[in-house]
Amino acid sequence: MQPLLRVEKLVKCYERQNVFGSREKLLALDGVSFAVAQETTLAVVGESGSGKSTLGFCISCLEIPTSGSIWFEGRDIVVLAESERRKLRPQIQLIFQDPSNSLNPRWSVEEILLEPLNLKGKLKREETKQRAVALMTQVGLSSDMFQRSPAQLSGGQRQRLAIARALALEPRVLILDEALSALDCSVQAQIANLLIELQRTLGMTYLFITHDLAMAAHLADEIAVMNRGRVVEQGPAQNILRHPKEEITRHLLAAIPSLDNAERPPLES
Ligand SMILES: Nc1ncnc2c1ncn2[C@@H]1O[C@H](COP(=O)(O)OP(=O)(O)OP(=O)(O)O)[C@@H](O)[C@H]1O
Ligand SMILES: [Mg+2]
Repeated sequence: MQPLLRVEKLVKCYERQNVFGSREKLLALDGVSFAVAQETTLAVVGESGSGKSTLGFCISCLEIPTSGSIWFEGRDIVVLAESERRKLRPQIQLIFQDPSNSLNPRWSVEEILLEPLNLKGKLKREETKQRAVALMTQVGLSSDMFQRSPAQLSGGQRQRLAIARALALEPRVLILDEALSALDCSVQAQIANLLIELQRTLGMTYLFITHDLAMAAHLADEIAVMNRGRVVEQGPAQNILRHPKEEITRHLLAAIPSLDNAERPPLES
């Protein structure tokens, strides 16, 4: 089967000033390649600074890679004209650790959901409202919360709202960049289960970026381990968990309290 998303030899080079004031190059992505089939989850794990967010920014068209290709639905989005890229952008949505950054604090929950629905522009006013109510239900929120501001929601509710807002654009791919990391264990489990449910019902494809190899193994079909801008190890989630080849993977595994998750609460809501 043709993958929905394929990244080929992706390079992102940043230039920054060093302590002596001269410019130096930093390879945030150093030839990353992988493919993600539709309705599957690829977890990208790695330590801080390994290039995970840069990868998410490039795939969601928020950064332009230095070289390489990003194939989505058979087209290389890197070489697309800006107008074409803009049309494609809603289809690949990015969700961050702190949803406050993407939710306007001055807007009500309802306004936050109506904005992307109105952008799509195809629905009548009453239909738009119905769609907003349906999106709330889909992510396990109640439309009783419509008049609240994001600050009047819990962290888990805010992240559900961020997911609903992304879903309003009917994306095919969701990139979740440490989207569960700031939440309590039990809330993490609830949102993880919501993601699994949405994948089943909507056929979503996920790129799940995390430090947490245990959560990656729970959610993902495949895991790609990144180190210094490169994918150093990739394979089926259980293989990576049980038979890690690279030192860095073993290091990430060591951060899990117990491989059998005996000390973690069960991943059920
Ligand atoms: N805009 C930028 N300008 C210069 N360097 C950058 C920029 N963005 C990221 N970098 C550098 O690129 C490297 C990769 O950063 P990135 O944010 O992708 O890492 P990460 O794996 O997401 O880390 P974390 O787990 O801490 O979120 C880092 O060394 C970072 O300092
Ligand atoms: Mg990051």
